[in-house]
Amino acid sequence: MAAAGERLGRPAGPGPGCGEEPFGPSVLGTREHWDAAYERELQTFQDIGDVGEIWFGEESMVRIIRWLEKQKIPLDSSLLDIGTGNGVLLVELAKSGYTNLTGIDYSPSAIELSEKIREKEGMSNIKLKVEDFLAPSAELSGFEICIDKGTFDAISLNPDNAAGKRKQYVQSLCSVLKPGGFFLITSCNWTKEELSNEFREGFEILEELPTPKFCFGGRIGNSVTALVFQRKKVRPSVLDKLD
Ligand SMILES: C[S@@+](CC[C@H](N)C(=O)[O-])C[C@H]1O[C@@H](n2cnc3c(N)ncnc32)[C@H](O)[C@@H]1O
Repeated sequence: MAAAGERLGRPAGPGPGCGEEPFGPSVLGTREHWDAAYERELQTFQDIGDVGEIWFGEESMVRIIRWLEKQKIPLDSSLLDIGTGNGVLLVELAKSGYTNLTGIDYSPSAIELSEKIREKEGMSNIKLKVEDFLAPSAELSGFEICIDKGTFDAISLNPDNAAGKRKQYVQSLCSVLKPGGFFLITSCNWTKEELSNEFREGFEILEELPTPKFCFGGRIGNSVTALVFQRKKVRPSVLDKLD
């Protein structure tokens, strides 16, 4: 099986020119693709109990959990996994003691798979819901932590107006994450600089988490970028000060 990065990642070659879209459209950016993929994974889980693909590998989950632990994020903080897929990250978070966990995915078969895995692991307190993050429901709000592992990448490959969908993603993130809340993103399509630019409105970069490096042609690079952003706190308006 190909590594997750190879399938989601941008093709090798020179970067985009000014004003150009960085990636061509791909089926990986469509809901039909994910529905079909998770239907297959659901069948495999039912047949042999295999949870399916863990995007960016187990180390990507360890990296996120270590960061939360290092920051002493309270175990009851509200945490949203955006595009949770099989929900295994949430199960690992629950095993580490986190108690207020929600996962959403726009693919009903992904949510069905994550529900089955949750049941097998006895983690009934994890909340799971079919939701399109680009049109979030009103109840999806006030989260202290949001995590994205590969979902912004998938959205960036949408064949229909990917640039508009990336903008909508940032707006959705602003509506679900509290001011001062943390956003942890793992990507194989975007560099640190590109992500900082995508999320510049409303977010500031706090930290880059170390990921494996590769060396090619004498140059060292990372195939995966893992960043922590913090949602900017809203400044009190003049009217608030008059109160
Ligand atoms: C590369 S997979 C990553 C899955 C999971 N985060 C993981 O690390 O295993 C991308 C996920 O994003 C979901 N997704 C893509 N666009 C979405 C959207 N607009 N709203 C919710 N989920 C979306 C897909 O269904 C898929 O589960």
